[in-house]
Amino acid sequence: MPTAIDVFAKVRGHERAEQLRAAREADLLPYFRRLEGPAGPIVEMEGAERIMLGSNNYLGLTADPRVQDAARAALDKYGTGLTGSRLLNGTLDLHLELEAELAEWMGTEEAIVFSTGHQANVGTLGTILGVGDTVIVDSADHASILDGCLISKAKLRPFKHNRLDRLEKMLSRAVDDGGGILVVVDGVFSMEGDIAPLPQIVELCKAYGARLMVDEAHGAGVLGARGAGASELLGVEADVDLRMGTFSKSLASCGGFIAGSHEVIDFLRVSSRAFLFTASGVPAAVGAALAALRIIRSDEGPALLQRVLDNGEYLSNGLDALGFRVVRGEPAVTPIVPVLVEDDWKAVLLWRALYDAGVYVNVAIHPAVQPGGALLRTSVMATHDRDVLDRALNAFENVKQKFESEHGTLPGPAA
Ligand SMILES: Cc1ncc(COP(=O)(O)O)c(C=O)c1O
Repeated sequence: MPTAIDVFAKVRGHERAEQLRAAREADLLPYFRRLEGPAGPIVEMEGAERIMLGSNNYLGLTADPRVQDAARAALDKYGTGLTGSRLLNGTLDLHLELEAELAEWMGTEEAIVFSTGHQANVGTLGTILGVGDTVIVDSADHASILDGCLISKAKLRPFKHNRLDRLEKMLSRAVDDGGGILVVVDGVFSMEGDIAPLPQIVELCKAYGARLMVDEAHGAGVLGARGAGASELLGVEADVDLRMGTFSKSLASCGGFIAGSHEVIDFLRVSSRAFLFTASGVPAAVGAALAALRIIRSDEGPALLQRVLDNGEYLSNGLDALGFRVVRGEPAVTPIVPVLVEDDWKAVLLWRALYDAGVYVNVAIHPAVQPGGALLRTSVMATHDRDVLDRALNAFENVKQKFESEHGTLPGPAA
């Protein structure tokens, strides 16, 4: 009888296996590094103190005593977990308050809370789209958006990152596809830190009758006077049909949400499999997110938002002055300050040199970015003080000289 090939064969010879082995052997793997304390501006990591420039804790609220107390209070009141889905036995008064306040914050009729942001994207796109529809995505959109699109079986039409001419071409083709059209973009792109040209995207969507969804994972709790994201900053909130956000960045917790019209959110509540068939977020996570949201929406919010953006500007200018090629977010700098390295291995080696110099950053190599577009993704918090950022810049300066003498020049500032 013929037998099947081993389905596990692919785990042995995959294209990254050799690179992974070599990186591990040389202790050059920039991923899965062990954190030994809270994700503050300075962290304990693998036996040493390091300046944290690789966290999405943009407002530093994971360390705020009010957020921690709220998590504790939820734990004390509801226990460690809900052991069930939102549908059956996983909905708390905390979820309902959070959903109401998120909708108010986003200025939408309603909001729905998922256990993670990834599930929010998958559970929305996989539900709202179907066979016959077309979904148009920016090539730099987050992986969870792509996953949702693939699950939905809608026709996927990607366009080159932030290229409006390519978006328009895809829209004109999508009209001929014959189904509904949804355009999905990140408000702030997670690796590049740049902002989608939302006003122009809105105009194009309107012209072609397409709906628009914006992933505000890195925009909510960062941009706009209320901190409601790129859509607020660029004045298009009323024109964006669906806004996604996560609690795993400025909201200092874990979970995600979709904000939009009553009819769509209500449909998701009874149809979204990633909402219905998974356990509700743990009470402490929901309590923490609600407390963080209340801080952002309080009188303290604007100063916190300003501080993280000022820190982004400071780091961006500092790295530029040191001769690094910094990708600048337009029309505003965001807390994400990417340093272009181009070559994957050089990025890993530069990461290691910085790590040894006491600075932790993230490394983005292909396929997280385009081939030849490797970068060090640095990010700031509102709670980094200038002295700490200066120490980090100093480490970048010292490392650059030695690195370039050993491994060749790095890309310089854009002309
Ligand atoms: C742009 C974007 N969308 C969605 C997500 C998923 O969010 P979560 O971490 O809550 O699953 C992330 C986080 O990595 C993200 O960066």
